[in-house]
Amino acid sequence: MHLGRTTLSKFLIQQLRGGDDERDLAALLVDIAAAVKAISSMTSKGALAGVLGSLESTNVQGETQKKLDVLSDQAFINTFQLGGLTAGLVSEENDQPMVFEPSPGEVNGRRYLAVFDPLDGSSNIDVNVSVGSIFSIIRAPKGRRVKPEDFLQSGARQLAAGYAIYGPSTMLVLSVGQGTHGFTLDREVGNFILTHRDIQIPTQTSEFAINTSNARFWEPPVQRYVQECQAGKTGPRERDFNMRWIASMVADVHRILMRGGVFMYPRDTKDPSKPGRLRLMYEANPMAMVVEQAGGLAITGRERILDIAPEAIHQRVPVILGSKEEVDRIARYHQAFDTGTDEQYRSPLFKDRSLFQE
Ligand code: AHG
Ligand code: MN
Ligand code: MN
Repeated sequence: MHLGRTTLSKFLIQQLRGGDDERDLAALLVDIAAAVKAISSMTSKGALAGVLGSLESTNVQGETQKKLDVLSDQAFINTFQLGGLTAGLVSEENDQPMVFEPSPGEVNGRRYLAVFDPLDGSSNIDVNVSVGSIFSIIRAPKGRRVKPEDFLQSGARQLAAGYAIYGPSTMLVLSVGQGTHGFTLDREVGNFILTHRDIQIPTQTSEFAINTSNARFWEPPVQRYVQECQAGKTGPRERDFNMRWIASMVADVHRILMRGGVFMYPRDTKDPSKPGRLRLMYEANPMAMVVEQAGGLAITGRERILDIAPEAIHQRVPVILGSKEEVDRIARYHQAFDTGTDEQYRSPLFKDRSLFQE
């Protein structure tokens, strides 16, 4: 063990120096890391701990709950409730928000609201493929009880966001608005160690991730983008593309943070009541913050995810994120489609225009 290593706690103490408020945020992130360690321990034991398989219950999304969905949810709820720093939470697994009253003697401790997906990619649990947890921290109202509307803050207002990936190694990747940083769990010692400082997503890529079994339901701009990638060297992109789909958003996004790429769960017409598969508040928003803080982009196709004003805690949105140049291109395809100027896009002049110039 190298004693000069930067642990998560040391890193947060160094990054969050702005008084009580930031000190509490650092403490909350350390609490989250503790919950992640507990979930990592359960997932890695797998069948030995009897944690695989489904329950009889369904969640608010109508999805059958896996045992690990519920155990992970419980790990996070306990952490937030007992940690004394969060005034309330929203979880994928619970229909309604939970609100915590301060316990007797607790002074002004509950400044935050936590929003999370306790176990992402749960269809992968029983086949021993990577899963994750996703979290978002926003500010709680001051001096009054939390109301359900208090959770409906746009992603741009997140104070911190991140995910844990339970893969060959367990990693915690997070942002407090000063870049995106990755920590690897040293299981023997029980510490998260800073291993990936200031992650930067390559702006260009030749790799895309989308569930192509939904191709017939996609809108024309997404169909066009994927067809052009698939056409490879002899198509309009003049190079070959590669494709990956893990079906754990966390794992797909992690790969993109590590080596670039574009991830899409776009709007489709499969179920008209759902404008997308992924949930805004605990999947799209935290991932969008982490991706933007690493130099990437995250959009619905038509707007920046972090600018969406949420209307409901379990709201779904289309998600297109990753390497800047590709996401920008997909945004232009949507714009060209919406304005009926598809042909114009093919001119070399239009090629250089970005919708997301700083
Ligand atoms: P969850 O397990 O929290 O419900 O989320 C699963 C999500 C996401 O992780 C993944 O990208 C997507 O669902 C996979 O969807 P398909 O099964 O349609 O590929
Ligand atoms: Mn999920
Ligand atoms: Mn989940």
